[in-house]
Amino acid sequence: MVCSSALSLARAGAARWRAQASTPERGVFGQVSNQGGPTEISPHNFESNMPADQIRFDVITLFPDIFTGYLGESLLAKAIEAGSVEVVCHNLRDWSTSKHNKVDSPPYGGGPGMLLQVEPIVHCVREVQTLDPRPAHLIALTPTGRRLRQSVVAELATHRRIILLCGRYEGFDQRVFDILKPEEISLGDFVLNGGEVAAMAIMDTTIRLIPGVVGDHESVVQDSFSDDRSLEFPQYTRPREFEGHNVPDVLLSGHHPKIAAWRKEQSLARTANRQQSEEQGGGSPS
Ligand SMILES: C[S@@+](CC[C@H](N)C(=O)[O-])C[C@H]1O[C@@H](n2cnc3c(N)ncnc32)[C@H](O)[C@@H]1O
Repeated sequence: MVCSSALSLARAGAARWRAQASTPERGVFGQVSNQGGPTEISPHNFESNMPADQIRFDVITLFPDIFTGYLGESLLAKAIEAGSVEVVCHNLRDWSTSKHNKVDSPPYGGGPGMLLQVEPIVHCVREVQTLDPRPAHLIALTPTGRRLRQSVVAELATHRRIILLCGRYEGFDQRVFDILKPEEISLGDFVLNGGEVAAMAIMDTTIRLIPGVVGDHESVVQDSFSDDRSLEFPQYTRPREFEGHNVPDVLLSGHHPKIAAWRKEQSLARTANRQQSEEQGGGSPS
């Protein structure tokens, strides 16, 4: 399958890059493609090798295999194949300083669980930064971070390179934040077992905004929250009638101004309904 091979290439590439980056010659950069192995390119020919709208994600995780299926399917697989998106997964354990590849330790002062240690993370992030000449925007996935919403996604999509740092266990040693100063992003007010699902959500939402990734860019413009507030209007497809539920007549009328007006009205009504239910305790609007 195209993209699982892309992932394994990405992982092979990450290992190879790591070896390269550990040598005194740090000026060698790599690019993963799923058409062959990692390609070595110099800073001089880098620009010509990269499509302007390409985005590269480096994912730092203890569980790189979680990404295999996700990278191998649908829009992301196609975007990787087309060269618009590049994803390189790095196993944090490769930066462990312990004999048994441990990267976690109990918290000082006591308490449940284990924390990810500062040392492997700082070393890993610094090395991953050097693997591509474009400056990377560093994101740590945390439940306490800035809430991911469409306006945040639009901001993230302006970066050409993003490093996604996935936590596990009880999270990160505070010095990760003090030293690396990542942007902290949360998927919502709930606790996931790890940052991987949040990292996927960031990649998934961001790539939709890269021209050419979604076949019809108009559908992205129409999506819910595309102006960060409104919800999309209801949509229908065949059959015209199912179990007594009919497609609204206006959508069959062929009268485009009327259809546009109906959609606008539906969109406003849905948005207002949701705001009302959130105000009544159905969820936090912020
Ligand atoms: C079990 S959680 C740690 C929760 C932490 N002890 C706390 O109470 O804030 C492990 C990791 O999952 C990720 N995670 C959990 N919830 C998340 C959320 N809502 N958004 C983004 N990442 C999340 C983070 O990377 C976190 O370090």
